Amino acid sequence: MRRGWSALAIGGATAALAIAGAANAGQGKTTSNAARARADAVVARMSLDEKILLAHALFPPMAKGKTQKELISAAGHLDGIPRLGVPTMRESDASLGVANQVEQRPGDVATALPSSLMTASSFDPEIARAGGAMIGSEARAKRFNVLLAGGVNLTRDPWGGRNFEYLGEDPLLAGELAGAHIAGVQSNRIASTVKHFAINSQETGRMVSDARIGEADLRMSDLLAFEIAIEKGRPASVMCAYNKVNGDWACENDFLLNKVLKRDWSYPGWVMSDWGAVHSTVKAANAGLDQESGQELDKEIYFGAPLKAAVEKGQVSQKRLDDMIARYLTGMIESGAYDAPVASKTVTPPYARNAEVAQRAAEAGIVLLKNEGDLLPIAKTAKRIVLIGGNADVGVLSGGGSSQVRSVGGAPVEQPLAWGGSASFARVTYHASSPLQALKKALPNAQVTWIDGRSLTDTVAAAKAADLAIVFATQWATEADDLPDLRLPNHQDALIAAIAAAQPKTVAVLETGGPVLMPWLDKVGAVVEAWYPGQRGGEAIANVLTGKVNPSGRLPITFPADASQPPRPRPVGLDRLSGLEAAAAANPAAASTYVLESFPIDYVEGADVGYRWYEKKGLKPLFPFGHGLNYTRFAYRNPVVTGGDRLTLSFEVVNTGRVAGSDVPQMYVTRDGSGAPMRLAGYTRVTLKPGEVRRVTLTAEPRVVADYDTSLPGWRIKGGTYRVALARDAADRTMVSTATLKPQTMRP
Ligand code: BGC
Repeated sequence: MRRGWSALAIGGATAALAIAGAANAGQGKTTSNAARARADAVVARMSLDEKILLAHALFPPMAKGKTQKELISAAGHLDGIPRLGVPTMRESDASLGVANQVEQRPGDVATALPSSLMTASSFDPEIARAGGAMIGSEARAKRFNVLLAGGVNLTRDPWGGRNFEYLGEDPLLAGELAGAHIAGVQSNRIASTVKHFAINSQETGRMVSDARIGEADLRMSDLLAFEIAIEKGRPASVMCAYNKVNGDWACENDFLLNKVLKRDWSYPGWVMSDWGAVHSTVKAANAGLDQESGQELDKEIYFGAPLKAAVEKGQVSQKRLDDMIARYLTGMIESGAYDAPVASKTVTPPYARNAEVAQRAAEAGIVLLKNEGDLLPIAKTAKRIVLIGGNADVGVLSGGGSSQVRSVGGAPVEQPLAWGGSASFARVTYHASSPLQALKKALPNAQVTWIDGRSLTDTVAAAKAADLAIVFATQWATEADDLPDLRLPNHQDALIAAIAAAQPKTVAVLETGGPVLMPWLDKVGAVVEAWYPGQRGGEAIANVLTGKVNPSGRLPITFPADASQPPRPRPVGLDRLSGLEAAAAANPAAASTYVLESFPIDYVEGADVGYRWYEKKGLKPLFPFGHGLNYTRFAYRNPVVTGGDRLTLSFEVVNTGRVAGSDVPQMYVTRDGSGAPMRLAGYTRVTLKPGEVRRVTLTAEPRVVADYDTSLPGWRIKGGTYRVALARDAADRTMVSTATLKPQTMRP
């Protein structure tokens, strides 16, 4: 089998294609030091061969010399060393549940969380933690002890194929939620990664591209997200990415691995490669890679015999090899995986209870984008409701790739792919959670029907005959392929426009990996962004549509008004890749000669990712980052901003509407006169009954207020006046105050 590891796989031929976490940090350091001392003692008793054994892990579907009884068909396997008490390692993907891509383990289901982007929409670390804890417990029940979770790459491009696996475009939000998720996973005494380190921002050419960005910009954006995630979550391992960063492969990048991660952040755990991301032995080992993953996917097993030879020749020092292994053991010891070996038999997880966790996350992450004239929640008077399209009769869409969960209830719709980078390991898959059935149950007195939307005439007639039309629009996204553009595929824009023309009460429910364009926006009454809502998505959507749940999600990513607004209108290198794919398809015998060469991607926006780019360029998006409506209204009163050492913003939130709900007030800051766009420095989620008032205080994350100064080196807060916005979203400037901060510097 497999696998879109290469940038081009066609016709069977694969072408070559310190401050925020300070409170935890002290305690964390003590446990890491103790774990490291224990790890060092174990390493001291190992032979050279035993050390080498722990430096490279198998990819079970392709591994040789092992019986299927020894292996679980999943992402990774590494034998333990019984004489020293080192446990066997079993790795599984990942952030959305225990994955089972293309059903490689027939019948092995798991609870599927919503997409990570949907979890990010909750702006609630508790939701992220609960999801992590749940999937970690299922991973353990299924005998895995390393979960390849914690995807925290910033979503720099709205068309990114893996945006659904990440936590949005803001480093503070993404970092905090990833950290909470990882901590949840590891609460089961299993190890989690944080990934993909770093700037693996697009899928097109992901195995060959070279991300170009200046150091200060990198530290203030993607690296800050990782830094915060590591502080909060203390992941046992960091997975380095496929791509190059400023000329060097991420998995042999001295700057990223040795300087930033291990020196500046004092990271104690181990660096594992992404699957098929290793390109050398000596350079990679000396640049900070500790373990080669999925060894069969690399050109050779670089950290097997070649590593042994390099150590014997002194090209990689004995000390460095010991450090590699000690880091691995430190991560396993500190996370608890070392001392809590997985059971010998699979245990069935409490799926019914776990489904509730998935549903809560979906309900907290649905974003009500538009609700003209309070069209939603569905009026009690609506008697005939027609649902249209999106396979809403049977299920909800999920994203594709290594994160794909075969959910409890199975896949009512599953379509293999004929082409594309993901064809070997992804299928368009729906989870069995039917919005139609859930709505029928929730509205027993209404007649709720579904039509597939294929015939425009029949669909328009059905919409006209109903009191309310709810159209389910879908956009499938997957690892290994970016979206070619931001339009809804398969003529869905025309379908929605035609329905809205026939039925004034039209609601669009979107199941998308990320932002889409909405040329029909003015014509529909309401728009609900339901992302990929996971295994209980149908129920969550029904609860929001009927008002049982008051929507409270906020966009963790900007929705562009048109494709030209974001820094890159389409995936860099896509034209070239498509040309090669076409040439290879036309000439299958020579397919392997069509090679996508390395190409640069210049991240011209630097640290001004997402909403900051829009502010810098004076662009008005379709929906800004942070946007989301409720069925109630919230007012903010009596804001007080203080400065000095820290910026704080204190204010009252009042639920002025008629139903209970949750609000997400946001704090944005910038130094007055700097010309820099405002940055999210704090946020919180507040749940209030009608009429209830709560005073809230937000403290700005200092590294968001600061700039990174490479000459220091470190973070520098310039003294002076700062503007502080109390806002509903990234574009809201209705409540801006100022405060003065003292100059400060912080270590990198
Ligand atoms: C992905 C990783 C994943 C790994 C193992 C890679 O293709 O980039 O996110 O953890 O495969 O399945």
